[in-house]
Amino acid sequence: MKDLLKFLTCGSVDDGKSTLIGRLLSDANLLFQDQKEALKTNSYADLLDGLMAEREQGITIDVAYRYFTTENRSFIVADTPGHEQYTRNMAVGASFASLAVLLIDVTYGDLKVQTYRHARICRMMGIDYFVFALNKMDKVDYAEDCYLSFKNKVQALCEELQISHACILPIAAKKGDNVVFASHNMPWYKGPTLLSYLEQVDVQEDKNLEGTILPIQRVCRPNSSYRGYQGELMRGSLAVGDEVYLLPTKERCHITSILWGDKQVQEACVHMPISIELDKDIDASRGNVFVKDIRVGISDHFEAKLIWMAEEQLSITKSYYLKLSTQVIPVQISSVLYQEDVETGIHKTNVNIGKNDIAGVEISASQKVILTEFEKEALMGRFLLIDRITNETVAGGIVLNAQSVGNNLVWQETDITKELRATSLKQKPITIWMTGLSGAGKSALANALEKKLYALNKHTMLLDGDNIRMGLNKDLKFKEADRSENIRRIAEVAKLMNDAGLIVMTAFISPFEEDRQLARDIIGQDAFYEVYVSTPLEVCEARDVKGLYQKARLGNISNFTGISSPYEVPENPNYTMNMSEGSIEAAADLLLEELVKKGLI
Ligand code: ADX
Repeated sequence: MKDLLKFLTCGSVDDGKSTLIGRLLSDANLLFQDQKEALKTNSYADLLDGLMAEREQGITIDVAYRYFTTENRSFIVADTPGHEQYTRNMAVGASFASLAVLLIDVTYGDLKVQTYRHARICRMMGIDYFVFALNKMDKVDYAEDCYLSFKNKVQALCEELQISHACILPIAAKKGDNVVFASHNMPWYKGPTLLSYLEQVDVQEDKNLEGTILPIQRVCRPNSSYRGYQGELMRGSLAVGDEVYLLPTKERCHITSILWGDKQVQEACVHMPISIELDKDIDASRGNVFVKDIRVGISDHFEAKLIWMAEEQLSITKSYYLKLSTQVIPVQISSVLYQEDVETGIHKTNVNIGKNDIAGVEISASQKVILTEFEKEALMGRFLLIDRITNETVAGGIVLNAQSVGNNLVWQETDITKELRATSLKQKPITIWMTGLSGAGKSALANALEKKLYALNKHTMLLDGDNIRMGLNKDLKFKEADRSENIRRIAEVAKLMNDAGLIVMTAFISPFEEDRQLARDIIGQDAFYEVYVSTPLEVCEARDVKGLYQKARLGNISNFTGISSPYEVPENPNYTMNMSEGSIEAAADLLLEELVKKGLI
């Protein structure tokens, strides 16, 4: 099999990127027939840009992946947009590549800010190999002076960004000089052409590629006798009989069989999609990782560098999904350490992070993340952050430090476990989370339910909005960020109480879906039971037990839920109870009955 080089091209609008790739493919005779026809009437740039729907705009707006192969090597090239607003696509392209071709327009006189930005982002995404293609040499009469002056500038940039593998190449993409064929117009240049360099360069050269990594994509149980763990072998090799560790639990086991497709094999090598069987039953699921040697770390608080890609500014109160390898884990950006200037690399503090900014941050995860510092292992060191509501990718990032600075905490396992505590109380701990408008009847329902559980000799605790806000959360008000923090702390407390073996009831408006989702993640899917107390606004307002609706209507209370602040109705509550009519007792009986029926009490 020929080896594969994945590279990307970047440059500003009009630097000639698409023309270059078009020329490369055409001169090396790598075009499809229909494309050759197209070339008779169109320019080289059209060839690539035509793959996408951006002709009207005249600029490349997405990442176009193109596959081609020569006698010596196969290639995938990502043509990424140069326009500043499309840095996101560039970063996406960079995350897949091991080499970058940066286009520089020599008629421009100096290096553009974009060149610094692109080189910095490529470095950040782990690219070590660069080709600086000094383009449009034809427009400066193929002058060696011009090449040398740009070469100096590029070398200075390489020094600053610690790029040790750089090929600085004078070309004229439109004319074809030094793309596939050596140029007769620049006899002073003795180096390789673009294609010959791409065919020869060894991008693995100084990579430390030890270790074995198999992230689990799926647990496969077609029948009771087979239980396979499926995934792509990302690094190293595996053989039947090998001892492997499962992360994050570090449990040891041995491989008893390897399936590749439907074929039994004795050994598997890198990039093979396989399914392995083990000598014992272990509790492994998607996102867990098998390794042979434990070089991969586990952490729930780490330092990272991000490229922010969303229109919306980075928010440290919001929760995002971290997607790292096959793991998807809710996280928060707990602090912004600095913003890195894309041109100079200087760190600024106390700034807001907006689109295209590079930032150093600390990230806290709601559970352990299997990761490595990017420098040590790119596969487990780079990630995406995803908005939990819109599913938009808001940032791409790399792990700088697996244990964040100032956080030398290590989770201490205790001998008496939560299971033992629950057993001694003879009950199953659970959190029954009531959500709904103020005055909907959450506290009343929780109170009545607690009395019934008490009568059944259950050990319980009720956490109530007003009470908690008078103590633990008295520093919080009612803005969105305060409410999120309110819910986060309550969820942590409820989790601790569940760990102590207690059945917990909570009565908080908890108006935002995202916060309730976070509470579910903190407490754990199986222990979280959401009750939507759906009494309508008109009823709550008419009751106005605390006189707060009237005050809110008069404008004396701001951000009042239902009046001047939204309530997001739960999408999939476990149980819904309208408390407009009927007795509280009856409502509590119904809820208890349901809990018993589900085997939760
Ligand atoms: S939550 O939105 O953060 O979940 P929480 O349940 O803790 O709210 O507190 C709600 C209680 O605070 C209400 O029942 C009401 O008594 C009181 N309160 C005071 N100001 C507001 C407000 N602006 N919006 C809602 N409730 C308020």
